[in-house]
Amino acid sequence: MTEMNPVTAYTDGDVDTNDTTQRSLESMAAERYSRRNAIFRGAGATTMAFMGTSLLAACGDDGQGGTIGGAVSVSAGSSVATSAGRVVTLTGTVSGNGQDAGWTQRTGPAVALSGGGATVSFIAPAVAAATDLIFQFSAKPLIGEAVTATTTVRVSPAVLGFSAVAHSLADVVVVPEGYSVTVMGRLGDPIVAGTAAYKNDGSDADFDKRIGDHGDALHFFGLSAANKPDRNISTRGLMVQNHENISEQYLHPNGPTPAPRPLAEAIKEIECHGVSVTEYIDNGSRKWSLVQGGALNRRITPNTPMAFSGPAAGSPFLVTAYGKDGKIGRGTINNCANGVTGWNTYLTCEENYAGYFRRDASDDAARTVAEIDSLRRNGITSRSGNNDWSTASATDDRITRWNATIKGATAADDFRYEPNQFGWVVEIDPYDPKSTPRKRTALGRFGHEGAFVRAVAGQKPAFYMGDDSRGEYLYKFVSAATWVEADADAADRLAIGDKYMDTGTLYVARFNADGTGTWMPLVYSPTFPKRAASGSYREYTFTSQADICVNTRFAADALGATPMDRPEWTAGNPATGEIYLTLTNSNNSFRPVTGTNAANPRSYNDPKGPSNASQTGNPNGHIVRLREDGDTTSATTFKWDIYLFGADATDANPTNVNISGLTTANDFSSPDGAWFSRASNPAGQINPLLWIETDDGALTDRTNCMLLAAIPGHVGDGGAYTVNNAGNTQNTFVGAKATAANLRRFLVGPSQCEITGIDSTPDGRTLFVGIQHPGESGSVTAPGSNWPDTQTNASAAKTVRPRSSIVAITRNDGGVIGL
Ligand code: FEO
Ligand code: CA
Ligand code: CA
Repeated sequence: MTEMNPVTAYTDGDVDTNDTTQRSLESMAAERYSRRNAIFRGAGATTMAFMGTSLLAACGDDGQGGTIGGAVSVSAGSSVATSAGRVVTLTGTVSGNGQDAGWTQRTGPAVALSGGGATVSFIAPAVAAATDLIFQFSAKPLIGEAVTATTTVRVSPAVLGFSAVAHSLADVVVVPEGYSVTVMGRLGDPIVAGTAAYKNDGSDADFDKRIGDHGDALHFFGLSAANKPDRNISTRGLMVQNHENISEQYLHPNGPTPAPRPLAEAIKEIECHGVSVTEYIDNGSRKWSLVQGGALNRRITPNTPMAFSGPAAGSPFLVTAYGKDGKIGRGTINNCANGVTGWNTYLTCEENYAGYFRRDASDDAARTVAEIDSLRRNGITSRSGNNDWSTASATDDRITRWNATIKGATAADDFRYEPNQFGWVVEIDPYDPKSTPRKRTALGRFGHEGAFVRAVAGQKPAFYMGDDSRGEYLYKFVSAATWVEADADAADRLAIGDKYMDTGTLYVARFNADGTGTWMPLVYSPTFPKRAASGSYREYTFTSQADICVNTRFAADALGATPMDRPEWTAGNPATGEIYLTLTNSNNSFRPVTGTNAANPRSYNDPKGPSNASQTGNPNGHIVRLREDGDTTSATTFKWDIYLFGADATDANPTNVNISGLTTANDFSSPDGAWFSRASNPAGQINPLLWIETDDGALTDRTNCMLLAAIPGHVGDGGAYTVNNAGNTQNTFVGAKATAANLRRFLVGPSQCEITGIDSTPDGRTLFVGIQHPGESGSVTAPGSNWPDTQTNASAAKTVRPRSSIVAITRNDGGVIGL
């Protein structure tokens, strides 16, 4: 492990003999410290040596290891102090003709030693309190017993181990000192053998064989040499990534042709959506590269065959001219955040699908009131549909499906119900490129952001899901089946999905004013409440569980769920089980000063830019968290508080807006992605790191979007709080304030990007981050960014088109990211 830097930085040249009585480290350290009381001076926080070199040394002719032919002595080097996740290198020295030198661990939490001989390294383990690990170095004389010496490594609990990254408006990904950025898969990179390199001039086609646009959520699935799942491998894997949307202006030679759209342009744009499955390997030292032609590489697009399962499968709601039995469909679209199951499958979540559909003005006259209201409640109201795809052909059903206007005699003759085929959680088996993804209708239909899965031994798996629109809700689906560990390695992974995802109970959350919460079941019965008439909506009466699954928003309305400030990602703390939910922002229409609630308590103005343009409502967002009562996934009640409030630290009111006490080193706006480090490495153990990604338009006068790392506390670590919104008071519950120690900005992205998508290798030593839509506001003649070319070439041509990409972030010393 030559890339690792030794932390045994302090050497004083003393030579002592081994203390065979193994006196306590504390007593020896105390003696040393009193003798040389400046021993810590000049040592960095990560490398503080607290005892002298060779304090624990042995000599082979002093009675412990008799020799013939010369004395052998060994030294185990200085004892050191470090913290969880950092690289420790042990370097022993041998004097004389010593043989078979090597290291063994004597005490403390077991670690894996890499390297061999006199120099080995390891990653400091997670600990709850300072813990001593003792290592023994030994060598043998030619004849006689081995001589040994020991050294001690004192490991402290995890801390954020990097310097905060400042605000940045540069067109580049900025990471802390000591870290490196490698651009991995980019928009258009070919993943199928024989597909040409991406020219990035608008002429490329074949996006069913290339990485799609607007990379969003991602997950690294370890891949064994036999191309099977391997949860422990950190050097080869399948990256599964969502492709949420497109920057249409960069996909064609001169930008998009106005409607009527050429068929080839529409097909290209459609195929840029969906999901990619791509093999990557670490070619050594965590330098990642894409494997074009990888055996499991696959594109899933809006045209890929899909199967429906769960209560709505086979119902009249899903009948189309393509899927006349209501059990099949084509494709997935606007794939936003994700979920990962305990059985090696990937959940892609369909968010803003509604905008792609066109409905002509004549359509209302052919519909029932219930259908018209359902379409409106779910946002299917456009007269053109995104990108005018429906204008590209009158006959090609890859195109005509995007017009939901009733045209045929029955639902099986047209695409009137095609919008009902989207808005689902879709399960994909990444290890079987021939498998048909399954749309899990039991989890409801809405603007699905993500689906964090919590699977605990002896409990029923739970799926926590945000519906990202203003005033929408948080949902939870609880399996009917209790988690069985043996299912984790089943060969038929989608059959395991059938077991846990097709039968269970869907709930929606109500956040009560007293800091408690209630999960309300969305289970049909003849007495399930009607959705009362309100505003322009007429009364809606449910007819079946399939109806509730398709019209989930109406059902949640009927039960009085709490309207939230745009529920985005969910993330579960692997140590405590607490669930975090990002609420990215809201505007003054949905969150006026007189319209707050306890869980969405702020309504304020965040002035922006030199003109102090007003941004009202909750433009910076917040993060709420909850703890299930009894710590069980199937609880129907919980406790909540607001973990963190976004704010512009420079101009926010410190009492009523910047409630978390952010500074310019950790201020942020519009939290979106949220992810805890994996429990398979020290960053995800005991005090796991929470990573927060932003999709911001309110703080962009000061900085591009960002990624922050946090060590959060727990529900209830703050207290009751009263917010004053321009004279209107709102009581709420807030978490402990942010500090420089528990919240730091880790990364800032390039111009006009969103940071979204995050995972690491199981060992936590490579962090994968998605850089979405750099330059989204630019044009083909004046791109809004030239990234990723600018990452390695500061003078990249100002005409080069930007590309959404994944970056691999590594620590130069090989340690765990963030610690
Ligand atoms: Fe696709 Fe709500 O972010
Ligand atoms: Ca501001
Ligand atoms: Ca998002």
